[in-house]
Amino acid sequence: MTEKQPRVFPADFLWGSATASYQIEGAASEDGRTPSIWDTFCRTPGKVFQGDNGDVACDHYHRWSDDLDLMSELGLQAYRFSVSWSRVQPTGRGPAVQRGLDFYRALADGLLERNITPAITLYHWDLPQELEDAGGWPARETAERFAEYAQLVATALGDRVKLWTTLNEPFCSAFLGYGSGVHAPGRTEPESVLKAAHHLNLAHGLGVQALRTVLPAEAQIGITFNPGVIRARTESPEDQDAARRIDALHTRIFTDPVLHGAYPGDLKEDTAHVSDWSFVRDGDEAEIHQQIDFLGLNYYTPTVVSAPVEGREAPRNDGHGASDHSPWVGSETVEFHLAPGERTDMGWVIDPTGLVQLLRRFGEERPDLPLYITENGAAFDDKVDASGVVQDPDRISYLHGHLDAVHQAIAQGVDVRGYFLWSLLDNFEWAYGYSKRFGVVHVDFETLRRTPKASARWYAGVVGSGQLPA
Ligand code: NOJ
Repeated sequence: MTEKQPRVFPADFLWGSATASYQIEGAASEDGRTPSIWDTFCRTPGKVFQGDNGDVACDHYHRWSDDLDLMSELGLQAYRFSVSWSRVQPTGRGPAVQRGLDFYRALADGLLERNITPAITLYHWDLPQELEDAGGWPARETAERFAEYAQLVATALGDRVKLWTTLNEPFCSAFLGYGSGVHAPGRTEPESVLKAAHHLNLAHGLGVQALRTVLPAEAQIGITFNPGVIRARTESPEDQDAARRIDALHTRIFTDPVLHGAYPGDLKEDTAHVSDWSFVRDGDEAEIHQQIDFLGLNYYTPTVVSAPVEGREAPRNDGHGASDHSPWVGSETVEFHLAPGERTDMGWVIDPTGLVQLLRRFGEERPDLPLYITENGAAFDDKVDASGVVQDPDRISYLHGHLDAVHQAIAQGVDVRGYFLWSLLDNFEWAYGYSKRFGVVHVDFETLRRTPKASARWYAGVVGSGQLPA
């Protein structure tokens, strides 16, 4: 019986969508913007599907006003976007470029005029290339530069934006950027990964302090993580230990210092063959451990791991996340598995129970901290049909399952304040280029025409009613 009831969300629950600068803006060399590590990476042969790049992307830089109208038509209440660092501070140092700041001020004003709450992410992976040339995230100086940049943006936008996020998914910046090398800048250096992770944590801590000096007291400051929902394949102690090690490396390397002020001891032991961690200076953990006002969580799919399975036939390490961790734990010590079940176009298993698990974990770990789902969504191979319509029932079903999971977590007492659907628009999906469509609005990358998919109308219905249909 109960499954048939609509799920009513709290009246003040914030419903939004999310994007990121490099994935949608285009205008890569306009108004003083300089290359970021992603511009460079896209030009490195073999790194991005079909050599795609973000030069034009969704051309949101020129079409932002129409895009905001679209959000308004859908009744969205909030919009999470990121600022392109090299658009506002081209060398990663020194004074801001006014035209860059003006773009984001106009965007924030346009949102406020339409009654949509702006939520800024300061760093969604597009480091100015000049800072990478000076060492990138493995260099401590990058954390200091980030704090200055954060302060510049907050000075320009602090009067109109109340929700601030320092970093998006630092795991990806560190492990994919400097470990597996599948993301920019494409380096594959085991110890650099740990340094990058530490300096990202430090950037967050210094960034929060810098933001507090210029933002009004009512501003809300947080960070977005993509914690792994790591499941051991069996109850065996060996498999449980594999799950513990991956949890340390994927999640606790960030969440422990940020939320509790210290790196996990087991992580340091597990990585002792790679580093002595002497890059962590006295006082760093206290700098990282700043009071924050909310925690952003991104969730897509769980991860199943085990100790090596004897006699297991190839393919080995075929599950989500395999290539991201193996340089540190060694593919001989942990295996990643494909969980059974339906998948999205990314090959990611659809499992909303992972979202309940994730929300409960952080609800228990920091009951004082409001949570936002800052990303959740799915890629499918959507097509505009002959009548100009995009039917995407799989995405509707994915969203329904995951919003139901959010509702369950709230019903169990977890303080979840809002949900940002990834993504508003089909966009540049990093190493997959334009081949993966996450939007609730279809983008024709030839004509740049936007077509809301059936899921956009469906989501508008959820947002408008504040409830999930039975
Ligand atoms: C997480 C990232 O923050 C976002 O940029 C990306 O497009 C989605 N996941 C989907 O992979």
